[in-house]
Amino acid sequence: MEKAFYITTPIYYVNDLPHIGTAYTTVAADVLARYHRLKGERVFFLTGTDEHGQHVARAAEKAGVTPQEWADQMVTHFTEVWKRLNISNDFFIRTTDPRHMRVAQEFIQKLYDQGDIYLDVYEGWYCVPDESFWLPSQLVEGKCPQCGREVDMLQEENYFFKLSAYGDRVLEHILNNPDFVQPEMRRNEVISFIKQGLTDQSISRKNLSWGIPLPFDNSQVMYVWFDALLNYVSAIDYGVDQARFESIWPADWHLVGKEILRFHAIIWPAMLMAAGLPLPGHIYAHGWLTVEGEKMSKSKGNAISPHVLLDEFGVDAYRYYFMREFSFGYDGNFSRETLVGRYNSELANDLGNLVSRVLAMVERYRGGIIPEPSEMAGDDQVLEETSKRTFREVETHFQNLSFNEALSSIWSFLKVVNRYVDETAAWDLNKDASKARRLDTVLYNQLECLRLVALMIQPFMPDTAQKMWTRLGGKGPVSSCRLPTSTAWGLLEPGGRINKGPALFPRIETDK
Ligand code: MSP
Repeated sequence: MEKAFYITTPIYYVNDLPHIGTAYTTVAADVLARYHRLKGERVFFLTGTDEHGQHVARAAEKAGVTPQEWADQMVTHFTEVWKRLNISNDFFIRTTDPRHMRVAQEFIQKLYDQGDIYLDVYEGWYCVPDESFWLPSQLVEGKCPQCGREVDMLQEENYFFKLSAYGDRVLEHILNNPDFVQPEMRRNEVISFIKQGLTDQSISRKNLSWGIPLPFDNSQVMYVWFDALLNYVSAIDYGVDQARFESIWPADWHLVGKEILRFHAIIWPAMLMAAGLPLPGHIYAHGWLTVEGEKMSKSKGNAISPHVLLDEFGVDAYRYYFMREFSFGYDGNFSRETLVGRYNSELANDLGNLVSRVLAMVERYRGGIIPEPSEMAGDDQVLEETSKRTFREVETHFQNLSFNEALSSIWSFLKVVNRYVDETAAWDLNKDASKARRLDTVLYNQLECLRLVALMIQPFMPDTAQKMWTRLGGKGPVSSCRLPTSTAWGLLEPGGRINKGPALFPRIETDK
C-alpha cells in the first residue's frame, strides 16, 4: 500500500477550552490535509487531546470531579469545535485511551530494558501549566522562561531518559536535513540549544497519580510529555499492527506552536532514535496569535472562542481569515477590524460579487445555460495562462506551508478575472447580435474561471468551493476533483445549467 501522507497537530491539553490560538494549528493542518487529498494522495490527518499531567489533575480537582470525568467532559468541547470548523481529521487520539496507554508502556519498557532509562534524583523547577522542567539557570527572574508564571520546586526520585547520549545524532540529523525543522529562524534556535549541551530528561513523576503508570515501577507515572509525544505512533498502531504502522509512519509534517518545538525537534527525535524508528519528515513551528496586541490568557479573560467568530462570520470566512492574515511562521495579532476588512473586501467583494455577477449574466443572456466557446482571443489566453501559473504558485506555497501566500496568489488571479469581466463588458456584447459568438466565449471563460477558483480554494474553504461547484452545475463533490488533471482549461461542459443562488458572503455593515 502507498504510504499515507501523515499530518499531525499537537494534542491539546484538556485543562482549558479551545480558543482561536489552539484552533490555528488545527485549521492549518486541515488545509494541508485537504490539499494533499486533492492531489490524490492517501492522507492520514491526526489530532487529539493530551489528558494526563498535573495541570489537568489540578483543573479537575478545582472542579470537584475526577480527572477522567473532567477529560471526558472537556474533550467534547474540542470535538464539537473541530466539527464546526470543518476539520477532516482521520482519527482523534485521546491519551487516556487504553490502547495509547499500552503502547506508551511498551515503548518506555523497551527503552528501560536497553539501558536508556535510569533512576536518579531530580532537583529543580517545574512549571505546572507548561508541564516543563527547568534548570535554575533557565528561569527568568525566578519565573518560567516560557510563560512567566510561578514555578514549583521539585525534589524527587525520577526516571531519566539518556537524552544527552542522543544530542550529537539529533544535531547531525538537523544539520544534514535543512528542511527537518522549519522555519529557518526556529531551526537555528534548536541548533544553538543543542550545541549548549543537552542534559538527561526526567521522564516520570513520583507524587502524581494522574498519568500512565511506569510498567517497571508503578509508584511513578510517565512524564506527560513523554506520554503525549507517543500519541503520534500509538494512534497508528505502533506495536499493535506493524503493517498498518509502516503504511503511515513516519509523519510527513508535525505542525506545532513555537513554544513546544524543543519537545518535537529534540526529545521526540531522540526517543524515536532510541526505539530504532525513522524520524518525521518535517516539523514546522508556527507563531503565536495575540488578541488586540495582548497574549491570550485565562487570567486576562481575553481568549476568544472560535464559536463567537463562527456565529458571526461562518466557517469559511473564519478559515480564510486565519490562513490569509498571518504568515504561518510568525506571530500575528488578531483584531476584529482586520477580519471584517478582509471579509468585506476579499470575500464579499472580490469573490462573492464576482460569482454573483457572472452567474447573473449567464442567467440573463443565456437562460442559465453554459454556452459553447469559440476561438480564444489574446485576453482569453491571459486567463488560461494566469490560472495555470496560479496553480503552480499554490503548489510551491503549499510545499513551504506559506498558506497566506497561496491565498494571495489565488486572489491575484481573482483580480485578473474581475478585470476580464469589466473589460469584456458582456452587457455591451449582448446589445449587438453579431457579437453573440464572442459573448458565448466570454461568458464561458468567466464560468471556467469560477470552476478553477472553486478548485483552488477548496482546501481553504471547502463549503464555499462546493457551493460554487454546485452552482456551476458540477456533479458530485468538488473534493473528488484531482490536481493537476482538473486544472486543465476547458473542462466545464457547455450545455449544463447553472444555479444562481444567494450571495456567498453578504456584506457586513461596519457602522453597526
Ligand atoms: N499538550 C501539549 C502538546 C503535546 S503534543 C505531543 C500542548 N498543548 S496546548 O493545548 O497547550 O497547546 C497546543 C497548541 O496550541 C500548541 O501548538 C500551541 O502553540 C498552540 N497555541 C496555544 N495558544 C496559542 C496562541 N495564542 N497562538 C497560536 N497557537 C497557540 O502544548
